Amino acid sequence: MELSWDSLHQQIEACAQCGLCRQIHHKVPGQGNGNAELMFIGEGPGAEEDLQGLAFVGAAGQLLTKMILAMGYTREQVYICNIVKCRPPQNRVPSPEEAAACMPFLRKQFLLVRPKVIVLLGATAARAVLGDQVRITRDRGKWVEKKGVYFMPTYHPAALLRDESKKRDAWQDLKAVRDKMEEIKAGGGF
Ligand code: URA
Repeated sequence: MELSWDSLHQQIEACAQCGLCRQIHHKVPGQGNGNAELMFIGEGPGAEEDLQGLAFVGAAGQLLTKMILAMGYTREQVYICNIVKCRPPQNRVPSPEEAAACMPFLRKQFLLVRPKVIVLLGATAARAVLGDQVRITRDRGKWVEKKGVYFMPTYHPAALLRDESKKRDAWQDLKAVRDKMEEIKAGGGF
């Protein structure tokens, strides 16, 4: 099947694979720079995201915006999306089946964007992408490299809003991401 942003967005709009879509206002495919070198993946849309059809626009999203700016980027420079594209009721964690049903869309986003570095925001994103063995408190801040793409698991901004003491570690992780991006740029020049 054709791989393009238009066809991907149409497929997401038409999807009824897992049933989450029965209770939503809008699908939330993700947004940002379609050729970004840096991609952020969260868990799933919350109430505000569901109303607007945009990823990370509620309270956690506002913190994510600050985190991205502190790294020296803008939201427009990066690509932001979630594991599931429909809001789970009461913001519950998406089930492994729901995450698996949505994974082909994330794969296509990855193939279209071709990021060099991916930040995995929270345990759900880190587990869905890197495997069930991930424990976010243990594994955050540790690079995982797969086929030349670097993955950094870190805390979800919603977790940082609940527990400010985690911000210090999260900032260490984001500084490591910033350094990796610089390193990649320096190595990739002609
Ligand atoms: N939390 C997420 O994981 N994603 C969003 O888009 C908003 C909140």
